[in-house]
Amino acid sequence: MVPFMESLSLLHALLTLLKGGNSKFVALGGVAVQNNAIQSHVLEAPWFKSSKRLCAYISCSALREVDTSKVLSEILQNSTNDGHSQMGKMLYVPRVEDRNSHMRMLNISSIDDLIANSMNILEPAPVDADGKEREDVMLADNPVDLLLLPGLAFDKSGRRLGRGGGYYDTFLMKYQELANERKWKQPLLVALSYSLQIMDDGDIPVTPNDVRVDALITPSDLTASLSVNGFPCKPATNVTSNDFFFDGLSQEANTSNIFGSTVTAGSVLTFPGLNTLGISINRVDFAPGGLNPPHVHPRSTESGVVIEGKLLVGFVSTGNVFYSKIITAGEMFVIPKGLVHFQLNVGEGKALAFTAFNSQLPGVEVLPITLFASTPSIPNDVLTKAFQVGDDVINSIKSKFGS
Ligand SMILES: *[C@@H]1O[C@H](CO)[C@@H](O)[C@H](O)[C@H]1NC(C)=O
Ligand SMILES: *[C@@H]1O[C@H](CO)[C@@H](O)[C@H](O)[C@H]1NC(C)=O
Ligand SMILES: *[C@@H]1O[C@H](CO)[C@@H](O)[C@H](O)[C@H]1NC(C)=O
Ligand SMILES: *[C@@H]1O[C@H](CO)[C@@H](O)[C@H](O)[C@H]1NC(C)=O
Repeated sequence: MVPFMESLSLLHALLTLLKGGNSKFVALGGVAVQNNAIQSHVLEAPWFKSSKRLCAYISCSALREVDTSKVLSEILQNSTNDGHSQMGKMLYVPRVEDRNSHMRMLNISSIDDLIANSMNILEPAPVDADGKEREDVMLADNPVDLLLLPGLAFDKSGRRLGRGGGYYDTFLMKYQELANERKWKQPLLVALSYSLQIMDDGDIPVTPNDVRVDALITPSDLTASLSVNGFPCKPATNVTSNDFFFDGLSQEANTSNIFGSTVTAGSVLTFPGLNTLGISINRVDFAPGGLNPPHVHPRSTESGVVIEGKLLVGFVSTGNVFYSKIITAGEMFVIPKGLVHFQLNVGEGKALAFTAFNSQLPGVEVLPITLFASTPSIPNDVLTKAFQVGDDVINSIKSKFGS
């Protein structure tokens, strides 16, 4: 992976994992199916196979954590008396020490090293059967290269929502500091997640102490033709400079249409380099009097800047309050995610604005088109009742859009 593609690492890791040597189609099934699929992905992943020392959680199904028992038993089943398994891995598992978010990771060599704590969660005792202190990963002479993490929810940018105790975030920050001090390579942070635990970007609350994960392992099939807001990545070796540049917004668009405005999208569909990055930009050209008609972006907040001309920019809040202002070149606006908004050219000549989104594919529904020109069309019974007018009015509006 090329270094400047760091933020693509999440999807790359996923792809490597799901495609690399494991072409099995995994249906989104029940929990048992997903537990199996996720653990198979882990066991077959190159980064798992090459890992020598790792931390992993002991799953608790009551907490909706993805099962790790298969992964752990594979690691432990052939362990030798030096604490390494024949898979060549040394394993540390969590032990919660107190309620101040303090969690240690202790070396175990057998599933029998685990005992149920007061919360009925399996943990290692601080000392082994011979009364010897287990090695704490924070005191070990060598670094771990991999951490398998649980969580309640995740987003595609690697944000993780824990159970609120802050145990993992605290541990991860301390471990990352330790690795920095010792000049160790940071371990790969991999979270295991059921499909339903993946949220949209922006839906996971962000706090300053959050540590993002590098990869998220889900049972989803990324090669499915349906995708919401992400597409497969190119292999890093195929990436060139051109993938990161796009000149599609350089030309003024033809605005001779019924609205007198044209949006040129610089989204992941036209500029694939935006994939997984969660941002995009559109260009909007306005003829004199042109309107970018009332519309919504289901997946994104929008900000915009007027480059030329004079625009009336307005939106309606969920409290049904209309907010608007006339702005000119250099002035910015913001439209909160999902709200109905428009821009109207109220200047003498043409106008031009650029709009930016916190999604690589913000999506759009243009209300007049959505309501009066959908395929198939919304029945008149619905529209006459909704707008409190007769069929004639609805038919007249529908006819304007050629339907
Ligand atoms: C562990 O041991 C079992 C039986 O002793 C063997 O079948 C298996 O292949 C071994 N697994 C590894 C990863 O060495
Ligand atoms: C890891 O734990 C096993 C079993 O408790 C023990 O035999 C081994 O010495 C430990 N290894 C290290 C490096 O602490
Ligand atoms: C990557 O490049 C190779 C060689 O040019 C080509 O055969 C392959 O199809 C490319 N893969 C993708 C996914 O673009
Ligand atoms: C703009 O589009 C209209 C309608 O499609 C077309 O008639 C006109 O020639 C176009 N103008 C330019 C400059 O391309």
